[in-house]
Amino acid sequence: MELRAAVTGCAGFIGSNLVDELLRRGTEVVGLDNFSSGSMSNIAKAKEDEDFTLIEGDVMSEEDLGEMMADVDIVYHLAGYPDVRASITDAKTHFDWNVVGTYNVLETMRQKKVKSISFASSSTIYGEAKTVPTSEDYAPKMPISRSGKASFCSSRTSMSCTP
Ligand SMILES: NC(=O)c1ccc[n+]([C@@H]2O[C@H](COP(=O)([O-])OP(=O)(O)OC[C@H]3O[C@@H](n4cnc5c(N)ncnc54)[C@H](O)[C@@H]3O)[C@@H](O)[C@H]2O)c1
Repeated sequence: MELRAAVTGCAGFIGSNLVDELLRRGTEVVGLDNFSSGSMSNIAKAKEDEDFTLIEGDVMSEEDLGEMMADVDIVYHLAGYPDVRASITDAKTHFDWNVVGTYNVLETMRQKKVKSISFASSSTIYGEAKTVPTSEDYAPKMPISRSGKASFCSSRTSMSCTP
C-alpha cells in the first residue's frame, strides 16, 4: 500500500528537500505552506509530480489543516518561524506559528485519527549546552531565546500527544 504523508512548511529549506525525497521513495505527499519564508521555486520539481498536492494555506487555519490531513498516515511538521530575532520584534506571530500552530496540527491529527508525527525541534532548546554535539537526552534544557522556548514547548507537546 502506498504511504500518504502530509508536510507542513513544504516550501521551506527542510520541507522541500523532504518532499523531494518522499516522492522519490514513492510516497504520496500533501504539502502545506503559507509562503512567508518558503518559495515556489523550492517545490518546482515536486509540482510536476502527480503524487504531490500543494495547499497554499496556514497552520493557523483549521480548514487548511483538515484538508491536508485527509487520509494521511504521517505528518511531518516543519512549518515554523525560525528567525530568532523575530521572536523579539514580532513575538505574537512567532508564538502563534510556532506554538499554537503545533497545537493546531496535533488537534487536527486527533480529529483525523493520524497517529504519527515527525517534528523538527532545534538545538536552541538546550540553551548554552556544555556538551557539543548535544545528545537528545541532555539536561538541563534551558533555552535562552524565545525561539528556543517555543521549540521546547512544541517538542514536549508533540511528545505528550502521540501514543
Ligand atoms: N534549518 C535548520 O538548520 C534547522 C535547525 C533546527 C531546527 N529547524 C527547524 O525546522 C523547521 C524548518 O526549518 P527550515 O530551515 O526548513 O525553515 P524555513 O523557514 O526554510 O521553512 C519553514 C517553512 O514554513 C512555512 N511557514 C511558516 N509559518 C507557516 C504557517 N503559519 N503556516 C504554513 N506554513 C508556514 C514557511 O513559508 C517556510 O516555507 C523549523 O521549525 C526550524 O525551527 C531548522
